[in-house]
Amino acid sequence: MAQNYSTINKTGINKNSTCNTSELADGFIYLNSGTEGSMPDCVINNFNQNLKRWASNPTTSYETDKTFGKHQHYQREKIAQLFSTEKDNICLTDNTTMGMYMALMGLNFKSSDTIIYTNQEHTAITSPLALHKEKIGIRLRMRKFPPANKLNKMKSEELIEFLFPNIKELRGATALCVSHVYPSTGIRLPLNLLRKKADQLGIKYLIVDGAQAFGMIDISKGDDDIKLCDFYACPGHKWLNGPPSTGILYLKNANIKPPEFYPTLSQRMEKYSTLDGENTHNFPMAEALQVRGCSNAPGFTAMLKAIEFQNELGGSLAIEEHILTLSQKVKEFIYDRSPLSLVSPINDPSLASGLTVFFPFNWKTPEVVFTDKGMADKVVQALLKKNIQIRSIGFNDISNPKRKVFALRISTAIFNDVSQLNQFQYILKDVLNTLT
Ligand SMILES: Cc1ncc(COP(=O)(O)O)c(C=O)c1O
Repeated sequence: MAQNYSTINKTGINKNSTCNTSELADGFIYLNSGTEGSMPDCVINNFNQNLKRWASNPTTSYETDKTFGKHQHYQREKIAQLFSTEKDNICLTDNTTMGMYMALMGLNFKSSDTIIYTNQEHTAITSPLALHKEKIGIRLRMRKFPPANKLNKMKSEELIEFLFPNIKELRGATALCVSHVYPSTGIRLPLNLLRKKADQLGIKYLIVDGAQAFGMIDISKGDDDIKLCDFYACPGHKWLNGPPSTGILYLKNANIKPPEFYPTLSQRMEKYSTLDGENTHNFPMAEALQVRGCSNAPGFTAMLKAIEFQNELGGSLAIEEHILTLSQKVKEFIYDRSPLSLVSPINDPSLASGLTVFFPFNWKTPEVVFTDKGMADKVVQALLKKNIQIRSIGFNDISNPKRKVFALRISTAIFNDVSQLNQFQYILKDVLNTLT
């Protein structure tokens, strides 16, 4: 049997929803939306209907259909409304990685340009940066996060200052390229502080990987408004619980064009070139990036359904509150027993996310924490045997950059509730008791 969504209402989210169940089996406690979300029934039904409709009239679907057509005007307009921006600021992608690549390969970096990033970036950032380094020899400045035992007590301003101080090495860089929420530590870097920092240091582009933010926190307004960034890439398939192979790229400058920016993955580069004698020059870049052969248009349509479902549940702010409340409960449970083990911040809500990261420890001797892969995997497997899915996550050890440390990561999502967390905590305690 599948799980019922009425459980969401235990922390006060609106009940009147057209989605009733998730595909997660009854009794299975899924705490890993940071890796993949789980589509609710209404999204799956919508996706199925779209696939059938596509198959019933394929040529029209691909060429001109209002919701499926390759320019994706309708969906891009809808997503733009969500973020109070314009259609030409939005391109639909397959995932975060694709959006980050479009941004980082599109910008016309030169060997004299500097890009700032951190030691905790996902490969969606480090891979294109490595490509630039190999191809053109770009200057990369890697900034290191503080060690875990300092990180969990820091305030957002203090952390941003620590990461990106006003020093000669960082001033005037071409791009600051960071994650909104870090998959390794669960830290959220508030976008308003990143924007201020980029402006203070005279950095031209703020490029943000939002893989762990969209669908988890409200990025439509306020301190984490997507519009504070120059480029922002995020998925539909994680916290939003949309279909696989869906995502969004936001481009602040709708009029950006070559030679500042090239549509790397596109069938419309000729719009900016004299190759076909057309050279219109004002073709929207988001549209050039959208028209790239046959895309997952049925999936993009179902992603809109996932957004609609979030709105029915009370909107992105209510979802954020639900997720952060659950996450704070996990953080306090861990911190109360073993302050040393907690990696994620616990004091400043502006740094918080729905990810809680902590090192395994023995419940009876909580002052001893384990940082090796074997121990983290052991806990994950023991919990899985009890029908609880979490994951282990490896990241660079600050005190010894050649070494990776491994921790446990808990994602608290819209379909989780307090009773699931109580059960998880009860079983986790048992599992931790066995660690030596
Ligand atoms: C920070 C970050 N960036 C990128 C990705 C890759 O996401 P996608 O599959 O949407 O490309 C992940 C996945 O875990 C992530 O955590």
